[in-house]
Amino acid sequence: MTRYLVIGGTGMLQGAVLSWNSEGHEVIVVARSAEKLQRLSKDAVNPERLRTIQADYHELESFQIQLKDLPVPDVIVSWIHRSGNNAIQALCSLYGDLSKQVKFFHIKGSSANDPQQNFTPHYSDMIDYHEIILGFQLSGSTSRWLTNKEIADGVIEAVRLRQHTYIVGTVEPWSARP
Ligand SMILES: NC(=O)c1ccc[n+]([C@@H]2O[C@H](COP(=O)([O-])OP(=O)(O)OC[C@H]3O[C@@H](n4cnc5c(N)ncnc54)[C@H](OP(=O)(O)O)[C@@H]3O)[C@@H](O)[C@H]2O)c1
Repeated sequence: MTRYLVIGGTGMLQGAVLSWNSEGHEVIVVARSAEKLQRLSKDAVNPERLRTIQADYHELESFQIQLKDLPVPDVIVSWIHRSGNNAIQALCSLYGDLSKQVKFFHIKGSSANDPQQNFTPHYSDMIDYHEIILGFQLSGSTSRWLTNKEIADGVIEAVRLRQHTYIVGTVEPWSARP
């Protein structure tokens, strides 16, 4: 059994959360809305293995306190907007200081394709760091953003493959993005 910690798991990552839970893994989901967290629990095949934590990653101090109370995860999947980059850093600092190595999957928007805009936190050897870049879908001369299902399926695949960088959809050619 793997213990996942998914930050921002009640939106586009729901499919990934429910899939890992249905496989019998323990999943801890962090988000702000109690209602969305409850809805997610109701949809879980193994609700006893889905733990929900109501927290706001912009409230850094209480976010860190809540994380410290949790069992250490094997895999962290974080969908944290750029405004929460200090929360990403806090996660890497907290889990990078332990004796157990943690796999860390940092989901980023398509702008991370531009090295100038790609934020990567500082992390120790105890963090096995990976980035997942959300691109777009190209079909002939048209393009569109990814659906929630494409994102969740892509994240599941990225976690399975464990490449340093995994792109869901494409980021090429950049000029063709929607
Ligand atoms: N490249 C692409 O195609 C691409 C990239 C990104 C997004 N999208 C699309 O855009 C849609 C909207 O994106 P979204 O960014 O709103 O993602 P989302 O996954 O739909 O929602 C964000 C998730 O993060 C949580 N969250 C947000 N702020 C938080 C905070 N301060 N503290 C803790 N948790 C927080 C939300 O729950 P709470 O609100 O309850 O906290 C929710 O679980 C998605 O459905 C996706 O399909 C497409």
